[in-house]
Amino acid sequence: MKYFFIAYAIIAALFIGLMPARGSKSPNAPFRLFPDMDEQDKLKAQKPDDFFADGQGGRLPVHGTQALGFNPEGSKEIGGIPEMEFGGGTGYYATGGIDGYYANGMPEELGLTDENVGAFLRRGEEAFNINCSICHGKSADGQGITGQFGVPGIANLTDDTKKQTVYPDGRMFEVITNGKGQMGSYKHNVPLRDRWAIIAYVRTLQYARKAPYEGAVKAAYDKGIAEQQAKAGK
Ligand code: HEC
Repeated sequence: MKYFFIAYAIIAALFIGLMPARGSKSPNAPFRLFPDMDEQDKLKAQKPDDFFADGQGGRLPVHGTQALGFNPEGSKEIGGIPEMEFGGGTGYYATGGIDGYYANGMPEELGLTDENVGAFLRRGEEAFNINCSICHGKSADGQGITGQFGVPGIANLTDDTKKQTVYPDGRMFEVITNGKGQMGSYKHNVPLRDRWAIIAYVRTLQYARKAPYEGAVKAAYDKGIAEQQAKAGK
């Protein structure tokens, strides 16, 4: 213990002895432990930079381009490439609400017709499988793979006794957009149009649950089994 106090006293004396050096000026280059952290090839906001001909570090938008969700006319409503719209509007299509209330149904902006609704649902299936199925499961019953690794309380989206299965489309839109509890927000990952496509697809999964087994479901099931058995050579 004696040596500890001696060593402690020496280190303390050295440290205090060095203190006055703080703030003193020197003509030598500073000693830097991580020079690559100090000297980075990057442009700092508002600083000049001779890389560009005009000597400005900060750049104006490239001529003829437009930032996502920005409308040069100053209107807040969005319009442009539907696959690239992630937000910015104030209507039902962009918020899921009308006059402060969650509303139900597919918004007009989707331009759904009898011809294109099939492709819309297939897009919903694709986007759901990419973004949601890891947690909610491919059939939306809440039995995705992450639950097996400990993510708790994943909602079952096809159980009719649960509020999340029966509440309006606009409310589901809000959950996808802003997340809820353990579930994160998807507003930067899933464009507006795909959010509606996912909702429509979840509705078809819910509907499919209710289809009676006898009839079309059983026929399709038996056909699938027969095909598999034929393949296996039985
Ligand atoms: C990382 C896992 C995870 C992913 C991915 C995920 N969710 Fe969830 N989701 C959850 C959890 C956990 C809850 C329960 C949240 C709560 O009630 O606290 C939930 C709840 C919900 C609810 C019900 C919310 C309520 O009001 O009770 C809906 C609807 C939903 N998710 C839809 C989706 C959709 C659509 C996607 C894909 C865009 C998705 N989720 C992706 C984990 C996930």
